[in-house]
Amino acid sequence: MVLILILGLLIGAICIFLVFFVLSFLSAGPLVVSPKKNINALLEKLDCQKGEKLIDLGSGEGRVVFAAAEKGLDATGVEFNILLYLFSKVRSCFSRHKGRIHFKLGNLWKISLAPYDVVTCFVFPEVRVKIKKKFEKEVQKGARLAFLKHGNGFEIMRKP
Ligand SMILES: C[S@@+](CC[C@H](N)C(=O)[O-])C[C@H]1O[C@@H](n2cnc3c(N)ncnc32)[C@H](O)[C@@H]1O
Repeated sequence: MVLILILGLLIGAICIFLVFFVLSFLSAGPLVVSPKKNINALLEKLDCQKGEKLIDLGSGEGRVVFAAAEKGLDATGVEFNILLYLFSKVRSCFSRHKGRIHFKLGNLWKISLAPYDVVTCFVFPEVRVKIKKKFEKEVQKGARLAFLKHGNGFEIMRKP
């Protein structure tokens, strides 16, 4: 009985993951994690001040958010895959920096970027144009937008 229950839960979790994996292809991009070295290089380059607010759109398992919080930023991740969201949320409970780590379950296209100083994301190249438009419409002057890219690259722009 217990074995059937565990098996059921496991199959359920795999199905949920697969559904969101397919949906992410239709939205901004599937789970591909950024190398930590690239995230740290990006955070150095952004030259962020402690207490600035960063949001990672499509936060995956949360590595950009954790790295940003470690550097003193108030960091938020938004992710629509409930399994990745729960994984990051649970992980954040064990972090030394949990006071400045936030995860939201939701669609990145529905989140207002207005409160944030720094917006990061790792999305399909064709989605970057749409994110850039959203960024320009919603953020304050001086806010920065950073696209993480495959391999070890990134691109940063600032709202004039
Ligand atoms: C390439 S991964 C990036 C993960 C993380 N930001 C990193 O750099 O390691 C893209 C993530 O965006 C999520 N995603 C795709 N479309 C989304 C949407 N519309 N709303 C929220 N999350 C989305 C996917 O589930 C995936 O976890």
